[in-house]
Amino acid sequence: MPGMIVVGLQWGDEGKGKVVDWLAESADIVVRFQGGQNAGHTIVVGDETFTLSLLPSGILRHGTVAVLGSGVVIDPESLIHEIRHLRDRGFRVDNTNFMIAENASLVLGAHKHLDIFREGPSDSKSEIGTTLMGIGPAYEDKVGRRAVRVCDMANPDRLDTVVKGLVRHHNKIRQGYNGLDIQAKSVHGDLLDYAPHLLPFVRPVWKFLRESLHQNKTVLFEGAQGTFLDVEHGTYPYVTSSSTVSGSALCGSGVGPKDIESVVGVCKAYQTRVGNGPFPTEQLNSTGGKLRRVGVEIGTITSRPRRCGWLDAVMVRQACAISGVEGVVITKLDVLDGFDELKVCSGYRLMGQYLDHLPSCTDAQSKVVPLYETFPGWTQPTAGVRKKSNLPKEARAYIDRIEELIECPVTLLSTSPERNDIIRYSDGPPS
Ligand code: IMP
Repeated sequence: MPGMIVVGLQWGDEGKGKVVDWLAESADIVVRFQGGQNAGHTIVVGDETFTLSLLPSGILRHGTVAVLGSGVVIDPESLIHEIRHLRDRGFRVDNTNFMIAENASLVLGAHKHLDIFREGPSDSKSEIGTTLMGIGPAYEDKVGRRAVRVCDMANPDRLDTVVKGLVRHHNKIRQGYNGLDIQAKSVHGDLLDYAPHLLPFVRPVWKFLRESLHQNKTVLFEGAQGTFLDVEHGTYPYVTSSSTVSGSALCGSGVGPKDIESVVGVCKAYQTRVGNGPFPTEQLNSTGGKLRRVGVEIGTITSRPRRCGWLDAVMVRQACAISGVEGVVITKLDVLDGFDELKVCSGYRLMGQYLDHLPSCTDAQSKVVPLYETFPGWTQPTAGVRKKSNLPKEARAYIDRIEELIECPVTLLSTSPERNDIIRYSDGPPS
């Protein structure tokens, strides 16, 4: 460190929560910079499992300050619930170990309604397959300059003006969906009720981070979702509404590039996706079923079964390039234990042409044919292994070839959900 960014290299759910939790042991501050309660981080500590959605993973480490940056969209009700839940389980959450950027925007009930109007009640019929948590509509209001922001909750008059403007806009849209009007008075009242629970945490986060970095404090920037859900670089339009790549960490928290020492990417040893959209290496067969069963590939927040497939090294290489990743952490290697053979996508064919990258057009993304390299599987389990020398030689060959294909060192390998089941593999960050 002092500034280290951690991003997902696939479609989210790469296991970033465990990696950030592990790195948070040596971090003073952990910052989330984008997304909202659509993110789900599962962390296993001993016999206990924690699922976080808005709170940064660092909140579980004693001595670490957890921060929600300005790029995060905050659902006040969900955040209050999450804080209460952690307190009930014996964790301290107060204004010495948690803070919220005063310029972050809020997710309101009206945003969730709009998400549901657009997507329909059944995910299988929906267009994008969102989490229905109002994330897209909240970001629309942010760039539309009509969002309610955290700082507005401290000023009832200003809040009144902003809420009235937002409600006027939403009621026009709601009429198009035959939705009932919402009342500004009730939205205003709810926000004033939430205010005393959240305002004690509110700070100019950019200033706190600047001072902390100047004091040589170590800051970990925790990405949510993954590169191919990025609103610009992802499989648009089947993406989330924020920027999930490393550049977003600067804007979404208020620091400059000179404060960043390294960028770390996280990917699974295979590939998964929830929601709709192209997935070149998807396995709609017994292989996909086995990956889902063994990897327990069920959405953390929405409980939707995840789509599963072979690792796509073309996409991971592209994700590393876009975020300037210098070290990759591969998670869930143990899920591949016992497969007879494994495949990794090393290129695509599209209309008779070879492609070394994922094209931008959604039609082309749906039509690319993956070209696979095949590897022998291993019988000796990797689950719980903590030393490179104890890995089966086939597992090492698999990882060594992935390093070549993605053009980036695999620095860490995770071999189980347990906090300390991590192997140092090659040199590079995180170190
Ligand atoms: P939204 O973020 O709820 O608007 O959903 C847009 C797309 O991003 C959908 O395909 C979701 O399934 C996906 N998505 C959003 N958050 C996550 C996440 O944390 N993990 C995996 N997929 C996600």
